[in-house]
Amino acid sequence: MNESKQAVHDFWNAESCGESLYLTGSTPDDYLRQSAIRYSLEPFIRDFAGFDCVNRKKVLEIGTGLGADHQKFSEAGAILYGIDLTRRAVEHSQRRFRVFGLNTNLQVADAEDLAFENEAFDFVYSWGVLHHTPNTERAVAEAFRVLKPGGTAKVMIYHKYSLVGFMLWMRYGLLRLKPMTSMREIYSQYLESPGTKAYSISEARELFREFTTVDAEVVLTHGDLLSSAVGQRHRGLFLKVTRLIWPRWAIRTFCKRFGLFMLITATK
Ligand SMILES: C[S@@+](CC[C@H](N)C(=O)[O-])C[C@H]1O[C@@H](n2cnc3c(N)ncnc32)[C@H](O)[C@@H]1O
Repeated sequence: MNESKQAVHDFWNAESCGESLYLTGSTPDDYLRQSAIRYSLEPFIRDFAGFDCVNRKKVLEIGTGLGADHQKFSEAGAILYGIDLTRRAVEHSQRRFRVFGLNTNLQVADAEDLAFENEAFDFVYSWGVLHHTPNTERAVAEAFRVLKPGGTAKVMIYHKYSLVGFMLWMRYGLLRLKPMTSMREIYSQYLESPGTKAYSISEARELFREFTTVDAEVVLTHGDLLSSAVGQRHRGLFLKVTRLIWPRWAIRTFCKRFGLFMLITATK
């Protein structure tokens, strides 16, 4: 593993996404609680992922994390495969599947180098993962390769022109008297794992150019609205004060286009 990928690995292997914020143990109730919080904070996942449409379909999830969406795919009857770069995430998902008596094929693996045949899957799903890997282009090309012709990829990556990005720029650019810090550097250094990227809609279309059709939609998140614990990296006075004065109503009404999440549906 090269140095930049190792840094991504080490970040997520120290704590899987949302682990300390939302997962309190490994009983069925603990997992159900974590899922309930996830889908109440990010209600758009259900519609986007299309859990109801995967019965008997061969599905690959890239970057399973704690495994909540993976569980939904399994319960919906998918023939399911999942990978994550970290052993920690794979073990979380394995524990989760054991307590619910569900089946999947999980492995520690790299999105940039999938060990699956060409055209193996009907559906490839990845939520909040591909912007973390150093060579996102390569990971998208791998998703394309393993999809059957006519198959669908559903991928969430971060949107560059987001309120989360703006807040991070205020905190780490403006307040540190470095207003010229680029958004690229802001996301790379201060959002989550080192090297995290964010894309404009046209950059995302370019990233998925091999696909026959590409739809991209931006959604406001609990992070943009500061209506949650936000993320495991972010604490402190700036956040506390901003949370108090953040104009959520105005943001919901006028700033829908400035959300952090970009939901991409691409057909091969
Ligand atoms: C923000 S978490 C998202 C996890 C899960 N999809 C979710 O929504 O909670 C990012 C995940 O991507 C995984 N990841 C990062 N780079 C990866 C790569 N190159 N291959 C596979 N997984 C990767 C990390 O290990 C981590 O579990």
